[in-house]
Amino acid sequence: MRLTNKVAIITGGGSGIGQACAYLFAQEGAKVVIAQRTVTTGEATVAAIKNKGGEAIFVQTDVTSAQSVAQLVQKTLKAFGRVAVLFNNAGSEQKPSPIEKMEEAEWDKVYDANVKSIFLVTKYAVPEMKKAGSGSIINTASLLGVRPRGPNQTAYCSSKGAVIALTKALAVELAPQIRVNCLYPTLVDTPLARRASAEKIKETGWAEFKRGYESLVPLKRMATPEDVAYGALYLASEESAMLTGVCLPIDGGLGI
Ligand SMILES: NC(=O)c1ccc[n+]([C@@H]2O[C@H](COP(=O)([O-])OP(=O)(O)OC[C@H]3O[C@@H](n4cnc5c(N)ncnc54)[C@H](O)[C@@H]3O)[C@@H](O)[C@H]2O)c1
Repeated sequence: MRLTNKVAIITGGGSGIGQACAYLFAQEGAKVVIAQRTVTTGEATVAAIKNKGGEAIFVQTDVTSAQSVAQLVQKTLKAFGRVAVLFNNAGSEQKPSPIEKMEEAEWDKVYDANVKSIFLVTKYAVPEMKKAGSGSIINTASLLGVRPRGPNQTAYCSSKGAVIALTKALAVELAPQIRVNCLYPTLVDTPLARRASAEKIKETGWAEFKRGYESLVPLKRMATPEDVAYGALYLASEESAMLTGVCLPIDGGLGI
């Protein structure tokens, strides 16, 4: 097993990419902390892990609130005594909007969920990693942060570009004890992707939308949450011990 007894906090761990990662990390021996706002899917994910003999807890968390994040780290320490891996994965899509019609509240919502969240959870987890002498932080960016495709997504695309820059800045600051890397997936079939693409899906239906998208991808398929989870597993494990500041595309070649 690749994460035996490592304590891993996964934000957004009860849905989509985070959930696939929670299952994979638990299967690889990690003690998993699922941190998200939604209770139902968070608790269901913990129950599924425990059913298979794994260890996990759910901590209801709003990653945009310092108070809530401080409590997440305290509850993690109470349950498992340490933090070795932090997967900053929770995030929000943007309501599509041309820049001149973009509401300030929508802009702030996207930046709070996608960028401020990483600042906050990292801020509170890092002292514990420093005490332990090591740690691995993984952030979820997006191919849209490198190559924005299509209009009306300025807040989302630029927030994910910020995640990439933040990853590199943290990698420099936290070396040599703590490694910081990020993943940047293309479209992954999750609730977020379906919400973000709702207008297009309404026009064509999901199957046609998916076919059209897959025709653009060199590997000719949409990414799965598990594709991203395997990238996170590599970055969390000692196999990537010489990697920091790396931004790994999970995109079937779309970004080439
Ligand atoms: N699905 C895609 O196509 C895609 C592509 C590239 C990047 N991403 C990124 O992957 C990450 C995971 O998204 P997903 O596609 O699995 O979507 P998802 O909707 O399945 O999961 C998002 C998770 O984030 C949590 N979350 C959102 N705001 C929160 C907050 N304030 N506090 C606590 N939890 C909060 C939600 O509860 C949910 O668990 C996001 O950062 C997203 O931007 C997704």
